[in-house]
Amino acid sequence: MLEISNLKKSYKSGNSNLQVLRNLSLKVEEGEFVSIMGSSGSGKSTLLNCICRYIDYESGLINLKGNDIGKFTEEDLATMRNTNIGFIFQDYMLLDGLNLIENTCVPSIISKMKKTNTMYESMEEKAKNLLNLFGLAEKMDSFPAELSGGQRQRVSIARSLINSPDIILADEPTGNLDSKSANEVIDSFTRIKKDLNTSILMVTHDMYYASYSDKVFILNKGEISKVLVNKGNRKELQDEIVEAFANMDRS
Ligand SMILES: Nc1ncnc2c1ncn2[C@@H]1O[C@H](COP(=O)(O)OP(=O)(O)OP(=O)(O)O)[C@@H](O)[C@H]1O
Ligand SMILES: [Mg+2]
Repeated sequence: MLEISNLKKSYKSGNSNLQVLRNLSLKVEEGEFVSIMGSSGSGKSTLLNCICRYIDYESGLINLKGNDIGKFTEEDLATMRNTNIGFIFQDYMLLDGLNLIENTCVPSIISKMKKTNTMYESMEEKAKNLLNLFGLAEKMDSFPAELSGGQRQRVSIARSLINSPDIILADEPTGNLDSKSANEVIDSFTRIKKDLNTSILMVTHDMYYASYSDKVFILNKGEISKVLVNKGNRKELQDEIVEAFANMDRS
């Protein structure tokens, strides 16, 4: 589904050059829920930005559904960002003046605007179904300001799914939430995986939430230094994450 090989990315400022991703390789299969963990500044957000090519990288391959996105034109990239990839951010990025149905429809409106105006009804139907799926049936006509943090994040999850993407990229989606709301977000991810078979790539600092994923990639010194596989025991996976971080501190 998503395959990254030998990705290199550095930031230049003046004469200095900060090498963030050195030789990063990873693979996400269809319907897989994967977490990326690594210390602050290790390059997790940089990696997500490279995958949607919001920023350019120096070398390496990013292959999404058999296509090398390094070769994409601006138009290909716009299509990919609208149809193949859904985004979820730490701060929800909802539009205050739109109700939940309208907020959920936004990416769909953008991708269909060029075609026709008569598609709003089917879009609205899909938005309602998604809001329903994430337990927001009672709130459909509300505005973001009337919601809790967890509810807002669930709207942004619904929105990320409106165009039926192949993969969702989530950058610390539980970072601003209390544990009840964060649990709801993780529940939503497990539902997406089960009901829609959408892949999820989640950046998180929280090993408890990471333990719900199928695999945990540890990002260290610019590459994936360890891949931990969930064998069905979340406690065991959390222990392995603790150990991976302890070894990292020692090295
Ligand atoms: N546009 C930029 N220009 C220069 N340096 C940058 C830029 N964006 C990020 N960096 C640097 O690259 C490194 C990786 O940043 P990145 O945001 O990818 O880290 P992160 O793993 O997401 O961290 P966090 O867990 O704190 O969100 C950091 O040292 C950061 O300061
Ligand atoms: Mg980050």
